[in-house]
Amino acid sequence: MVIYIFAIILYFINAICGLCLPGKHGDSCSYNCTYRHCFCSSERACEGCEIGYWDRRQNCELQCISLTCRCTNITNCLSCKDGSYGLDSKCDKNCSSGCASNICYNNGTCFRCKSNYTGNTCDSCEDGLYGANCSLQCSQGCEGRACSSRDGTCNCNTNYRGEKCDSCIEGRYGLSCSEPCSPGCVLDDCTSINGNCDCKEYYKGDTCDVCVDGRYGHDCLSTSLNDEHSETDGPNFGAAVGGVVGAVLVGRYGLSCSEPCNPGCVLDDCTSINGNCDCKEYYKGDTCDVCVDGRRRCGMDYLLFPNFNDKN
Ligand SMILES: *[C@@H]1O[C@H](CO)[C@@H](O)[C@H](O)[C@H]1NC(C)=O
Ligand SMILES: *[C@@H]1O[C@H](CO)[C@@H](O)[C@H](O)[C@H]1NC(C)=O
Ligand SMILES: *[C@@H]1O[C@H](CO)[C@@H](O)[C@H](O)[C@H]1NC(C)=O
Ligand SMILES: *[C@@H]1O[C@H](CO)[C@@H](O)[C@H](O)[C@H]1NC(C)=O
Ligand SMILES: *[C@@H]1O[C@H](CO)[C@@H](O)[C@H](O)[C@H]1NC(C)=O
Ligand SMILES: *[C@@H]1O[C@H](CO)[C@@H](O)[C@H](O)[C@H]1NC(C)=O
Repeated sequence: MVIYIFAIILYFINAICGLCLPGKHGDSCSYNCTYRHCFCSSERACEGCEIGYWDRRQNCELQCISLTCRCTNITNCLSCKDGSYGLDSKCDKNCSSGCASNICYNNGTCFRCKSNYTGNTCDSCEDGLYGANCSLQCSQGCEGRACSSRDGTCNCNTNYRGEKCDSCIEGRYGLSCSEPCSPGCVLDDCTSINGNCDCKEYYKGDTCDVCVDGRYGHDCLSTSLNDEHSETDGPNFGAAVGGVVGAVLVGRYGLSCSEPCNPGCVLDDCTSINGNCDCKEYYKGDTCDVCVDGRRRCGMDYLLFPNFNDKN
């Protein structure tokens, strides 16, 4: 309808006046008409009305009954201006913001949707998108990666929570919320993104996975490796650590501090939780348990740990 009417107007103007803007006339459209809302061929001739004005015989001085209508007389709303629709109600409705170029038919259906929009009236976002410009992606935690076009709310996949399912459930973190928070985290909960948390007493580190200095073992409750392990460790504990007898507070790791750090560890000490350490020359790996370059004998420690290299 809009296009049809506009084509008629253009034809009309073209035939009689050339293609000047309303209010202009002349070969190069550089002259002003007497009446500013007319299309004209000379200063005083009014051939047709600018959109939103009506009655050529009155030199188009009258506005349509609604500014959003194209009209020919005061009671008639022939068609709607671009961006408006609803002939029955004098074009008082706005085309959806998802309509390309902001134009729609008189029934509100868009000619075409802007990118990322969909639906007859282009008022929904394409699958997986939401927000004012349909430019935001539904959370990975949303079931089927689908969410409300309006505000991004959705039903959550396992391990996710929140209206937009953009957080992990309590006690979990990581890309798919599958990593458990460290037991050192207060309330056993941590930040969804990276597992960071506030630490319980005796724990430290961003993710509270390490005992503070001088603490060891389960819940970092022990103050001395000896307290917990002197019976099981026996007389050899300490003696094996490069011959440094009496170094009882170093050289052990694991849940109950029962594992010896690897001989490849600098100073023969390692992280209490997992045994990781900085490596001596010729050793490699997180726990320095492998010889570099495929060596069977990494270094001097071969003499003290004759079985160590054989298993590598
Ligand atoms: C037409 O009107 C405009 C402003 O209304 C004015 O600036 C311009 O000089 C006029 N042109 C002529 C040819 O009278
Ligand atoms: C307005 O136009 C319609 C047809 O387009 C006509 O029937 C009606 O009489 C006109 N009204 C006035 C007040 O001119
Ligand atoms: C239509 O849009 C105009 C301006 O863009 C605004 O002032 C008006 O309130 C809107 N009307 C409706 C019904 O949303
Ligand atoms: C709206 O009008 C257009 C053009 O007349 C038509 O193609 C379309 O089917 C109509 N849409 C509805 C929902 O009636
Ligand atoms: C939507 O797009 C407009 C214009 O491109 C921009 O000004 C506005 O910030 C965008 N809004 C959002 C929520 O992206
Ligand atoms: C469409 O959505 C994508 C994905 O979110 C976004 O990157 C892009 O900017 C959006 N396009 C427009 C025109 O807003």
